[in-house]
Amino acid sequence: MSQPKTDIIRIFDTTLRDGEQSPGASLNHNEKLEIAHALDKLGVDIIEAGFPITSQGDFEAVRAIAHEVTRPTVAGLARTVEKDVARAGAALDGAPNTRIHVFCATSKIHREHKLRKAFDEIIRISVEQVTHARTFTDDVEFSPEDGSRTELDQLVEITQAVIEAGATTINIPDTVGYATPAEYGRIFSYVREKLPIIDEQGIILSSHCHDDLGLAVANSLSAAENGARQIECTVNGIGERAGNASLEEIAMAVRTRADFYPFTTHINTRRIYPVSRMVSQLTGLYVQRNKAIVGRNAFAHESGIHQDGVIKHRETYEIMDPQDVGIPSNELVLGKHSGRHALRERIVELGYTVNDEQLQRIYEDFKTLADKKKSVYDEDVEALIESELKSIPGGDLWQLASMTFHGGVGAEASATVTLVDATGTSSTQTCVGDGPVDAIYAAMQQITGVQVTLKSYNLRAVSKGRDAQGEVNVEVEHRGRVLSGRGISTDVVDASARAYLNGINRIKSLLDRKGEDAFDPAHP
Ligand code: KIV
Ligand code: ZN
Repeated sequence: MSQPKTDIIRIFDTTLRDGEQSPGASLNHNEKLEIAHALDKLGVDIIEAGFPITSQGDFEAVRAIAHEVTRPTVAGLARTVEKDVARAGAALDGAPNTRIHVFCATSKIHREHKLRKAFDEIIRISVEQVTHARTFTDDVEFSPEDGSRTELDQLVEITQAVIEAGATTINIPDTVGYATPAEYGRIFSYVREKLPIIDEQGIILSSHCHDDLGLAVANSLSAAENGARQIECTVNGIGERAGNASLEEIAMAVRTRADFYPFTTHINTRRIYPVSRMVSQLTGLYVQRNKAIVGRNAFAHESGIHQDGVIKHRETYEIMDPQDVGIPSNELVLGKHSGRHALRERIVELGYTVNDEQLQRIYEDFKTLADKKKSVYDEDVEALIESELKSIPGGDLWQLASMTFHGGVGAEASATVTLVDATGTSSTQTCVGDGPVDAIYAAMQQITGVQVTLKSYNLRAVSKGRDAQGEVNVEVEHRGRVLSGRGISTDVVDASARAYLNGINRIKSLLDRKGEDAFDPAHP
């Protein structure tokens, strides 16, 4: 069978929809817009900006992104429910490049136990809502949810029905991350073989893989080898459970093995690393050290034999050039005598774009940091940039104004904390605890009134040396939903306080945007 005409694989980024469904992640409006702009520069073809029916916040985010980020197509998700499609249509109304993505589960297990609907009924509502979606836009995607576990002939039947109703992209998801590469690839070749209309009408087949067995990227590439021309993925592979296929791994596999894969993407790979850092920072989801492409160890060589090989000839142990994914070439150390110009150069080299006001604030923070520590490394500069990019006015509901604490080993600790809320009102509380961090956390709970349980606490040094900045990552739980928080400071107690407050602010912001529904597992 001939391959589809184009050899471009469209990258459909769902960091802001499936990615935001990751346990622990939650983004506010401005953070979503910031990521959408970064995805635009990265070169993605489609941005799935949210699921408008789920909340006013998601609706506003899809609306703002579709109107502001006009090069890529912006998609809104909808179930096969009239009000979902209407809400997605309203969010996208008036924007230049829009898509409605309609989905309905089709596998036997989902039909019988989740939807409790017969297959004929599923076809009927799918056709009905694809037709409805076409009244808002010519670009309609349909996903048979749990497609990889759907009987092949039924998958073909529903695919044909929704194409006839106007769907222009058919996405076959491996919703539960169960498929194997050969099996998943065969689904695409089978559907294409049975439905010549796909190639005749230029219908795009798409993959959407979850990583429960660690096969999401391999499955996506197998789909592409079998005719898929859109891959759905997320930055850093974030997403439900074990996550989605990782954008950076797909883009770099296709690029690095251009000798093998007969297709390419529009991704500007040099933007990968900065976008990865931004998504990690804003979602609070940490990138594991050994993560392919963007992990801290991805280009680190520990063994002497490897180091020797790389020094003699880089390609002995490196299949990719770190600069091709946007990792700066040399580690230039800045210090307190470095000027604004040197800092700006470094920021640009690290792949970030900041305006003059942001540069000025980063420079002031840099001077404060350089007074405290002798050498300011790339990781320190990145931490400063990310804190600035994250400090969106009004985004931090409570800010830490001051903090004092007392105590010693074996003695009860006490802490006095002052927080300022978004209206500028300050509140102070003194509490005792098992140690200073515990006492500070108790005071913060009392001031904010947000009840959270600390689920995890991790501390690491951002860079080298005794004077390195400490980064604390926490996970805090409110009514069963876990969100993360991050804080950075040269003082680890200060970093601990900031991480906890960041977690509380995320919960409060979610409560303000979505209400208690956000913490209700039954809500879509
Ligand atoms: O995993 C899945 O099936 C989805 C669909 C909504 C495409 O995310
Ligand atoms: Zn998914």
